Amino acid sequence: MQYDPFAIRERYEQIADLEDKAEKEGSFRVLIPRYFIKKYITRDDIVLDAAGGTGINAIIMALSCKSVTLVDLAPGILDRARTNIALKGLTDKIRVVEGDITDLAAFCDATFSFIVCVGAALSYVLDLRERAIQELLRVAKIGATIIVQIQSKCGMIASKIRKGLIKEAFEIHKNKPFTDGMGVRSHLYTVGEIANLLRKLGCQILETATSPVFAHTTDNSNIYRKNDEELKLLETLEYGYCAKQELLGQGHHIVVVAREM
Ligand SMILES: C[S@@+](CC[C@H](N)C(=O)[O-])C[C@H]1O[C@@H](n2cnc3c(N)ncnc32)[C@H](O)[C@@H]1O
Repeated sequence: MQYDPFAIRERYEQIADLEDKAEKEGSFRVLIPRYFIKKYITRDDIVLDAAGGTGINAIIMALSCKSVTLVDLAPGILDRARTNIALKGLTDKIRVVEGDITDLAAFCDATFSFIVCVGAALSYVLDLRERAIQELLRVAKIGATIIVQIQSKCGMIASKIRKGLIKEAFEIHKNKPFTDGMGVRSHLYTVGEIANLLRKLGCQILETATSPVFAHTTDNSNIYRKNDEELKLLETLEYGYCAKQELLGQGHHIVVVAREM
């Protein structure tokens, strides 16, 4: 399947408000990468938030590092990011740039010490996924921390089976073209595939996690009905189990923390 940036841009222009809401509400699809971001980011980091969306991760990171550059390809998403960033008074610390992760020519080699590409952009770039990772690594300094999140083949198979959609599950198994819940064509990875790709391109894998572990991927309603105490307990369970070897790949998404060597 060939990557089509126009289709992605058009889709994210249509769902920009929904995307903004999802980033602000923070399901465990969103919270688990943030857990690893907070674990690894340092005060000295110069951060690239690739496919950064409406800027909520950029805002969180800007409070703990030197500077953030947010790149995204959808102008409507970038407008919302600029508004969110301005409302937090962080325009001096976060640069917002329109761009595509498959071509980061706007940035010199070895610019960033901390690179985040979470959400599903590395699944959406389809046949250009290796090139996109090469671009992220080209702009990374030696020793940079890289945090990526992609969609999980096993997680999607499990999700279809739970809904009784066995034929659809089998089509995913057979690598038939897949369209995700946002209506975007997507490449689904196994844990081994993303780990091998990152290693082949010169990274050391530090941690791998599933997101979410037990909670629903995008539907937060069950979480918001809980009281604060229950939400804290749920967070402890999700963060405590997300990196367990035996569970990797079972959520809709996979998170990998790697080091550029
Ligand atoms: C699911 S959102 C994730 C946003 C944010 N990173 C997060 O995790 O909350 C995916 C974002 O990736 C952007 N995107 C998708 N493909 C991209 C590409 N090739 N280059 C840059 N941005 C891309 C979309 O416009 C959208 O804002």
